[in-house]
Amino acid sequence: MSRNALELVFPAAAMLLVCSLVVLFLTGTGLQPGLTFSDESSADKSEQMNDTTQAFASAESDSLDTATVQFSLQDLEAAAAGDALFKNNCAQCHAINDVVVGPALAGLTQRRAQPWVVKWVQNSSKMVASGDEYAVKIFNEYQKQQMPSFALTEEQIGQIIKYIEVEGSKGMIRETFAVAD
Ligand code: HEC
Repeated sequence: MSRNALELVFPAAAMLLVCSLVVLFLTGTGLQPGLTFSDESSADKSEQMNDTTQAFASAESDSLDTATVQFSLQDLEAAAAGDALFKNNCAQCHAINDVVVGPALAGLTQRRAQPWVVKWVQNSSKMVASGDEYAVKIFNEYQKQQMPSFALTEEQIGQIIKYIEVEGSKGMIRETFAVAD
């Protein structure tokens, strides 16, 4: 190779190396953050992870360097179905993290058990009329605005709940590590 050619090739190769290092560094420091869903299973992890998908985020703080939220593949499939159901039936009045017409739904599974949510979605006014304490309280909090009844099955409502849970955990991770959407 002539000396001239080397003078061209060498700086190009050096640039390439620097770029790769920068990318590696950014990835390592979490500056390209995001929620990673992966179902890869390395040899030593495969047993415990078997059918499990991990969503994780890491930050540089000592006390909080890793948060792990686990969802099974079935959970994620249900959440995907729930995503569509939510958009078609609920999104006009609800968001996960913000109050729209109705309350923000993040953390719903910590507030209410699934059978309660199923009954509520199928007929909230019947629940309010029955005197259910939580139903009456939330109904009053939202200026007695009646949520419509939905002819959704228990399974479909379960899928919506799963969607709320998965989306809510993304919000929690963003908040904890102050990363952008
Ligand atoms: C037309 C607006 C509207 C639509 C559409 C709607 N909601 Fe609501 N939702 C409300 C309001 C308003 C409340 C507050 C309680 C009340 O006023 O009855 C509420 C309350 C709730 C609650 C109780 C929240 C809590 O924090 O405990 C849940 C759960 C809920 N809605 C789920 C759903 C789901 C799931 C769907 C879609 C299938 C849906 N809602 C569709 C208006 C709506």
